[in-house]
Amino acid sequence: MSRSNLLVLATGGTIAGIAGHAMRQDYRAGQIGIDQWLADAQSLGMEARLTGRQIANVDSKDIGPAIWSELYEAITDAIADDAIDGIIVTHGTDTAEETAFALDLTLPVTKPVVLVGAMRPADAVGSDGMRNFVNAVRVASDPDAAGRGVLLVMGDRVLAARDARKVRTRGTDDAFRGFPRGGVALVTPGALEWFGRPWRESDGARFTFPREWPRVPILYAAAGVEAAMVGRLVDAHCDDPAASGIVVAGVGEGNMPESVTAELARLASEGLVVVRASRVDEGLVDREPEDAANGSIAARALNPQKARILLKILLANAVRDPEAIQAAFDDP
Ligand code: SIN
Repeated sequence: MSRSNLLVLATGGTIAGIAGHAMRQDYRAGQIGIDQWLADAQSLGMEARLTGRQIANVDSKDIGPAIWSELYEAITDAIADDAIDGIIVTHGTDTAEETAFALDLTLPVTKPVVLVGAMRPADAVGSDGMRNFVNAVRVASDPDAAGRGVLLVMGDRVLAARDARKVRTRGTDDAFRGFPRGGVALVTPGALEWFGRPWRESDGARFTFPREWPRVPILYAAAGVEAAMVGRLVDAHCDDPAASGIVVAGVGEGNMPESVTAELARLASEGLVVVRASRVDEGLVDREPEDAANGSIAARALNPQKARILLKILLANAVRDPEAIQAAFDDP
């Protein structure tokens, strides 16, 4: 592999976390700065040339549109820079799937863009951070990673942004899974094996990166949830219900009590975009005949938090036609 030039954008997370003692369970995310991290990485004798920039140093529970915007600008500049071959973003695992998906929907796919995190802080016994990072370097150094959208490296597995989801709160094995596709490649510090060809049909960005991110609440359905919840959520979190959207984390295949369905159908008839996702981890929500009658959209394979990202981006791009919205969820 020839020596590639990679830009590393650091945002914090457990990968930059410190416990202060190898055996302690509690720790603080976002403690190690990018310069220290790159010095530690380079001391391993990696082939790639790494330069870094500290975008933030936070727990990813505090990442949202402001940091997405900084990442988007920095990555866009790096994609235009002939001296940079690939981009790595270090990120907390809690919301990595959301950042990866937001960037995947808005960036071109001409260079590798790889998110990486860790489940254990850097000074914990058995820390996974540096191994995951070295794996990410291998992926971002491979020109064949372009054309696959934003990728997430966790463990020795590479996941596509649209599929990646955090499924465990502890442990390094299988903390992330890809759904509906599993992993798209296997990676170790010494090897990278892709499963299949790049899948993106065109190099361009699919949507314009939003300057303003519309608010989209998630209604979590549960046994006995009341229709009154809908109005309270929409009143509190939708700036203009006739031009906003809501995602339902439904039971089973995106279901909810009849009274909730009726209230959402009423609001949909006034312009609210209603997306049915599932609270079930691997919940596929297909379009049903009732969706046409109720004016709702099926989230298909996107979980509620990712359905929320896609809906925000669609609304910000003035995509309001129900067929166009459903098409975006059918092929995210
Ligand atoms: C975070 O998401 O920043 C903390 C948890 C983690 O990175 O695993």
